[in-house]
Amino acid sequence: MSGNIKLQICDSAAAVATAAATAFADLIRTRPDAVIGLATGSTPEATYTEMARMHKDEGLTMAGVTSFNLDEYWGLGGDHEQSYRYFMNDRLFRHVDIHPWNTHVLNGKARFPALECRSFEDRILAAGGVDLWLLGIGGNGHIAFNEPGSSVDSRTRLVSLTQETIDANSDGRFFSDPSEVPRCALSAGIGTIREARALILLATGAKKADAIAAAVEGPFSPDCPSSLLQDHPECTFIIDAAAASMLT
Ligand code: F6R
Repeated sequence: MSGNIKLQICDSAAAVATAAATAFADLIRTRPDAVIGLATGSTPEATYTEMARMHKDEGLTMAGVTSFNLDEYWGLGGDHEQSYRYFMNDRLFRHVDIHPWNTHVLNGKARFPALECRSFEDRILAAGGVDLWLLGIGGNGHIAFNEPGSSVDSRTRLVSLTQETIDANSDGRFFSDPSEVPRCALSAGIGTIREARALILLATGAKKADAIAAAVEGPFSPDCPSSLLQDHPECTFIIDAAAASMLT
């Protein structure tokens, strides 16, 4: 079952980044006050580099844009180098003209996590909802930090990370040792993500091939959280050939 998921299979990871950055730039040029959703992790880094280049070389302005990020490690403040707030400032926000006060990243040090999550959802509503949300995918099929078992209507909340996710994030790209990785995170829920008017999920490399096949061709099931995008009316997976290699 592939539901409504559209597939855009690119020759290379670089082409994935160009296609994703172009989709965001097209939206922002058409709607300068667009509300966009963003992701962290390795996969979108090249997309952000390309968006920064478009700002510098092509006059792409993000001055009217509002952004919401998927998730944040619980217990890390924005000045921590492995926090997702730090990542976003470093990889994208400081290279473009988006106003810092229009960038919403959950506060991993909020005193009351439930209030922080509620406020995040309220801010999305107040902004009029998300026009286009960028996603990555975990090797276990997670989206944001919605691990297998997360329900289709889950909302932004404090979640526990699986050992697989902790290990994946301590392979030297971000944390060098599993003991350094926070055990919990604040994460937009699957229900929150599904309310975005359009979704783009990126995946590159053979390590993501099984997860992509399960998301696109497997059952619609919380066992593979990304499969819960199958009935979204406007969801595109932009992936490279290696990530597409297990599709039938
Ligand atoms: C990050 C996020 C995660 C990642 C996923 C893939 O904001 O929500 O779901 O998208 O873990 O991470 P990478 O791209 O590092 O393989």
